[in-house]
Amino acid sequence: MTATSPRLKHEVKDLGLAPLGRQRIEWAGREMPVLRQIRDRFATEKPFAGLRLVACAHVTTETAHLAIALKAGGADALLIASNPLSTQDDVAACLVTDYEIPVFAIKGEDNATYNRHVQIALDHRPNIIIDDGSDVVATLVKERQNQIADLIGTTEETTTGIVRLKAMFNDGVLTFPAVNVNDADTKHFFDNRYGTGQSTLDGIIRATNILLAGKNVVVVGYGWCGKGTALRARGMGANVIVTEIDPIKAIEAVMDGFRVLPMAEAAPLGDIFITVTGNKHVVRGEHFDVMKDGAIVCNSGHFDLELDLKYLAANAKEIKDVRPFTEEYKLTNGKSVVVLGQGRLINLAAAEGHPSAVMDMSFANQALACEYLVKNKGKLAPGLHSIPVEVDQEIARLKLQAMGIYIDSLTPEQIEYINSWQSGT
Ligand code: ADE
Repeated sequence: MTATSPRLKHEVKDLGLAPLGRQRIEWAGREMPVLRQIRDRFATEKPFAGLRLVACAHVTTETAHLAIALKAGGADALLIASNPLSTQDDVAACLVTDYEIPVFAIKGEDNATYNRHVQIALDHRPNIIIDDGSDVVATLVKERQNQIADLIGTTEETTTGIVRLKAMFNDGVLTFPAVNVNDADTKHFFDNRYGTGQSTLDGIIRATNILLAGKNVVVVGYGWCGKGTALRARGMGANVIVTEIDPIKAIEAVMDGFRVLPMAEAAPLGDIFITVTGNKHVVRGEHFDVMKDGAIVCNSGHFDLELDLKYLAANAKEIKDVRPFTEEYKLTNGKSVVVLGQGRLINLAAAEGHPSAVMDMSFANQALACEYLVKNKGKLAPGLHSIPVEVDQEIARLKLQAMGIYIDSLTPEQIEYINSWQSGT
């Protein structure tokens, strides 16, 4: 059901869920001290006064804190979901009722609704776009060229979105600045690695309640997300096999102590397959055909195309819901394959996404990237820009401070030493 209010435009599941959302947002806030400090500064400095901002993000308790910080900074902010299955409906309701932030996001919305929400976001005529996967920016470029003049710039959260922005730049259509939040060290070292690692296993466990110890877990892709997933699966006692197409990442996986195999050899061995590549059909017909009966497959990459689910559907006698977010495909070859979360991000579909403590740094980067765009309005060249290293370092310093951890600093003698080339052996 879609609730409506005459005061504030929105599309959320049920405004009655707001009290639960508020409780959960407050709980997440305990683990987000860096973003809290930024929000407090924004509330006095108002860097976004008079600016319209669209955030396309997973609508979670952590995203709520980002939206609240941006609004505190004076932004006329509107939030839409960056994935049809990742919205926390109670959070969406609370942002509308308690914080007066228009939200267009319903867990389980179909693709047509998702695309309509992207259009609603662009109807807001944003000066700043925070994107996660680049759907809003791609739609702006394809369909709303006349609105590009309104745009100060965009920020991008995730690896998949950065890949798309690079392709747009190479095609000559990225004609505005885009800040690469994903590549900040305080983002991908922690969010992609420890966030994806923990929340992916959390999603698998919530969906299936299976024991991981002793299982053969095949991690498909050894980027930052794959590294975290493999590390945590091993920590739970699984025998982890990694598949890769990049020779350097494959060596890393080997030297991190994992068995590395081509997918064709891993397919008959795995009990659980987790895709984290950002690419299409990395698990496909030839692999499904040789899997064990009852093998579990899921995806933790941004889009739902890593598993070739069309092949599975075409070769299934029956598709049965066996638990929430868990479907069994009974295949014509007599075996079953179990698909979690419809092949969408399992950590957000069946669990709550990355824990707040890592999103604290990711969203501190987002908030400061927006401020950077505004402070440098008209000065940044079209194309991708890194988060300034001082910003990255400051976020790390604030996080350490909040964790009560102190570190050393260089002595004057050491500073002199590392800045000179004169003394050697
Ligand atoms: N991406 C992964 N986990 C997330 C979370 N908890 N909130 C927002 N975006 C996310």
